[in-house]
Order: sequence, then structure tokens, then C-alpha cells
Amino acid sequence: MDETTLSVDLATQELYVKARNDGSETLWDRKAALKNQCGFGEQGVCCRICTMGPCRVSPIPGKGVQKGICGATADVIASRHYARMVAGGSSAHSDHGRHIAHVLHMASRDGDYQIRDEKKLLNVAARWGVATEGKDIYQVAHDVAEAALNDFGKPFGSMVIPPSITKQRLKVWEDNDILPDAIDKEVVSIMHATHMGCTADAESMINLSMRTSLTDGWGGSYIGTEFSDIIFGTPMPREIEANMGVIEKNMVNIVLHGHEPSLSEMIVVAADDPELKALARGVGAEGINLVGICCTGNEVAMRHGIKIAGNFNQQELAIVTGAVEAMIVDVQCIFPSLANLAQCYHTKFITTSKLAKIKDAVHIEFDENNAYECAKGIIRKAVENYTNRKHEKVSIPTHKSTGMIGYSNQAIIGQLDRVVNSYTHKPGTFEPLAQCLVSGVLRGAAGVVGCNNPKVKGDHSHIEIIKKMLANDVIVVVTGCAAQAAAKAGLLSKDAVKYCGVGLQKVCELADIPPVLHMGSCVDNSRILELVGEVAKILGLDMSELPVVGAAPEWMSEKAVAIGTYVVSSGIDTFLGVVPPVTGSPEVTDILTNRLEDWVGAKFYFETDPAVAAEKMLARIEEKRAKIEALN
Ligand code: SF4
Ligand code: FE2
Repeated sequence: MDETTLSVDLATQELYVKARNDGSETLWDRKAALKNQCGFGEQGVCCRICTMGPCRVSPIPGKGVQKGICGATADVIASRHYARMVAGGSSAHSDHGRHIAHVLHMASRDGDYQIRDEKKLLNVAARWGVATEGKDIYQVAHDVAEAALNDFGKPFGSMVIPPSITKQRLKVWEDNDILPDAIDKEVVSIMHATHMGCTADAESMINLSMRTSLTDGWGGSYIGTEFSDIIFGTPMPREIEANMGVIEKNMVNIVLHGHEPSLSEMIVVAADDPELKALARGVGAEGINLVGICCTGNEVAMRHGIKIAGNFNQQELAIVTGAVEAMIVDVQCIFPSLANLAQCYHTKFITTSKLAKIKDAVHIEFDENNAYECAKGIIRKAVENYTNRKHEKVSIPTHKSTGMIGYSNQAIIGQLDRVVNSYTHKPGTFEPLAQCLVSGVLRGAAGVVGCNNPKVKGDHSHIEIIKKMLANDVIVVVTGCAAQAAAKAGLLSKDAVKYCGVGLQKVCELADIPPVLHMGSCVDNSRILELVGEVAKILGLDMSELPVVGAAPEWMSEKAVAIGTYVVSSGIDTFLGVVPPVTGSPEVTDILTNRLEDWVGAKFYFETDPAVAAEKMLARIEEKRAKIEALN
């Protein structure tokens, strides 16, 4: 395989060649071994919901088998499959949120987890109606966590919706009957609705999918983000390095991979322990070097400046450097292949969650009640492994880039306050940003998010789309693996203004920001929702009336389907660079890419060519500017 076709990232290309020379298998090799992937599965027309099946129906109307044994059509089968993807994705994000809520519940003044953002805690307390006056801040934390945890399974009423949602949007949800009840309830209900013999109507199925997805974006993910900020601190701008070159030859390298910050935060704290530092020197290393991959990488980079080793596509390649003493994982996006790959080198592959045990891995269950000691024990294993390194197998690419990271909404407001004088606006708000959009200095904003997928040349679509946005004065916010692609390509650097149109260049100079703002991990897409909601409220518009678009150019997971669905349900068009498995159903395809606009004022676009996708995103932004320009 020609490595230049796999990814635009040079470190990835270099390590792919090394893996091949080492006889190590990677995702690209396994993809090639699959040859032609299942066409029925790809179009969403294979049903295995009951054991009368599996039933594969024709993706072409009027030609071939049109119904499964029960009579389900391609529309029914594809819509049910879509709904189950939304359920899977929403459950992952929401369970993450629930886990962080439990950590907040156990926070104490003298414990391992403490309160780092009291202001945010008090704001959140108001949302759940938790009394705060005269209460110790840790009692408030305890009560807020309990209120949020109750929101997951409360028997009556709707989920508590964050205040940044516009009233117009709430009405859209009520009118479409997609305002969700409790978080867990919606996931259970949609699993029920997709059971054999329940919903057999694509419209109704997509409607339920939207309702479920909202429990993710405005519920579980939102809780995950806000509570993480409360416990671990709200991110603020800082410089980081990204790509495989951050792995150090003479240090104990520990890769943090996965999603939830409760473990990785504790690893970061424990890595500073003098006892472990001395142990590292004792085994002949210069120190302990923590690096991150995927969203755990984003979480610790945002809050501590921990360097980013790479994104989803690169998880195996980090081990292939031969210089990783331990890869520590928790949940989500972790290749099962890592366990065997680690055995080809000296790396200890350590799983820590009972939700993500992997055969042949070293499993050390992380216990939050004994978090610090547990983290120390895991690091100790990594340090002790340094002497096992096979030096003849070590080759670390030199590629790395620097960039700015840490743009929480509070951080963005902080930067905008710098331009308040220029625009004579109220400090502490998004008003300068709103006015830049109205005046047309910024034509719009794009959120570029999501994963890598070997169906797409790695990072290529992310970078193409981002650069096209910048050139056309569209400010870009990024999360997840898209953010890491941007970091590696130097797009998070303030120097990236060289790619921008004059309007965006001016805004970046005044606010002292890069044109691409790294807002965090995938659950931190909730920060983007908050930002869009707040700007819409300032302008008295609904979110769907802003010149804002979303894109997931290289997505792969069920979580991405949930995200896309809640983003569209929130009134923001979403451009998917990998076609979701629904095209075997004309009706589902029509609903997602057309009819949704009548329901919620936004829709999906399926476009695999990033240059075409970027053109369509810009056209849509210009189309949506009509409303905002009337405010001038
Ligand atoms: Fe076949 Fe219907 Fe069973 Fe699906 S639910 S496997 S279409 S019989
Ligand atoms: Fe993620």
C-alpha cells in the first residue's frame, strides 16, 4: 500500500512504513484484507433485529426483494438502524456524563477530587434549583451532582435544559414533540421502539432519534463538560505541541487514550509525584512524559498542556514507535487490536474500565475512591517497563507542530473582551462576536468535529474544509480528532491567519486568537451548542437563523451520528463526509437531507468530496446570512 494515500500526515506515513517493516498490522491492513465491504450493510438494508432474519432487502425500489420476513421495508430497516446508532452514541456520551457526575458527588476538600471552578458550580446549581445560600461549596457540589444524576432517570417531566437554548428552539422542539424526558428513559424508549414489531414508519423513527440525540448534546454531554470544568478547571488558552514527535526518546512515555478525564487527570497529578520521578531516574530515564490520543488527549491538553501524540488513526502508530512504555485507556474509540500490537513491542496496554475490558490487555480497574494511589500504581508499572524497551525497535518521527488550545466559552469571552473597546460593547459577553457576524466582517462560523475513518485519506478532509472556511472569513471551532488534525497541520497556531480572508484576519489580530479555536473533546461539542445559543440570544434570533454550519468530514462512530442528529435538531446544518448507512432507503435519505429542514430549520448534507462540501457549506452560510443582515 502506498503510504501517501493513507493520510496527509507525514508522521503517520512514516510509522505506517515502520509497522510494515516490523511485521505489525494496522487498521489500513485490516481494511485492505476485508476487500469489498458489505454493500447491504453500507446502505443500511440488512436487518438482524430478530431471528426470523437476518433479512437483506434490495436498496433499489421495485427491484429485488423489497421486504423482510415481517414485512419491514428498506425505509423501516434503515431508519431503525439509524435510531440504534443514535441510541448507542447518546448512551456513550451520557454515561460519560453520569460518571463525571458521580466524581463530582464524591468531591471533597481533602479528597483526590476537588472543586476548581466554584463560579460554574453556582451557575449550574441555579439551573437545577439547588439552594446554595449559606451552604459549604462541597455540599453544593454534592447536591448539584445528585440533582443531575436524578435527571438521568427521573420518572416524570422533561430533562433540565441548559439556559443557552433559545426560546424559539424550545418551541420547535415542543412543536415537533422532541423535547426529551429523562436521559436514560429516552435511550431505553428508542431501543424499545426499534424492537421487532414496534415503529415501522421512517418519519416517526427519525423523530424519536432526534428526541434521543437531544439527551446527549443538551444533557449527558453538557453535564460531562460542565462538571469536568467544575472539578478539573475550565480550560484557558495555552500553547501545546502535537504529533508523534512529542514522544521522547529518553523518557518514560505514557500515552493516555480514551475519553473520560477522571482517570487521566489523576495520572497527570500523580506523574508529578517525587517518588515516581525518582523511580524514573532510577531506571535510567530522564523523566516521565505524558502524551495524549483522542479525546482523553484533548481533555488533558486543554487543562494541563499535555502534548498531543495524535488522533484516532494514530493510536496503533504510537505503539509502533517502540518508545511507549504504557498506553492507558478508559472508554470509547480504543482499538481491540492494541492488545496484540503492544505484545509486538514492549508496551504495556492497560485497560481501566469495566465497560472496556479487552482480551490480552493488562487490566487495572480504576477506583475513583482511591484515585491518586491507583494512578500512581499504573504509572509505576509504566516506569518499571522502561528497562524492557527494545532499542532496535525504536523510531520516533520528528514531526510535531505547535498551536493554541483551551478555548472554553469563558476563555473566548476573555479574548473578546480585548476587542470591546474597539467595538464599544459590554464586556463579559459574546456580543463582539455577534456583531462581527452581523456586520459581515465574519461571514459565518463552522464547527469541524469528529473522528478519522480509513474510508477517507487521514486528516485530508478536515484540513481541506478548514482552510476553505478560513479563506472565506468563516471562523472555525474544532473538537475531537478533527481538532487534533488541525493541531498537527499548524492550524491552531496564530500564524494560521495567513490562510484567512481580511475580515477574519482582523478579528484574530484584535482578539489575539488563532482562526481555528480548539474547544475540547467530543462531549465539548456542548460548548459549541452553548456558544451558538448565546449568540442567537444576543441577536434575538433562533439558532437556525445564524450563518453557522457543522461538519464531520471523517466521522466513524455511533457517537458521531448522535452528535450530527442533535446538531441538526438544534438548527445547525451538518455536512457528513462519510455517507451514513441509510442510502438504501429513499425515504430516510430524503428525511435527513431534505425534509428535516421543514421540521427543525436545518438538515444533513452527505458529501464525500471535501472541496465540494466546503463550497456547499459556504453557500449555505451565505444563504443563512439573509436574516442576520436584516439586523444591520
Ligand atoms: Fe427480518 Fe423483520 Fe426480523 Fe428484521 S425484524 S430480521 S426485517 S423479520
Ligand atoms: Fe471523542
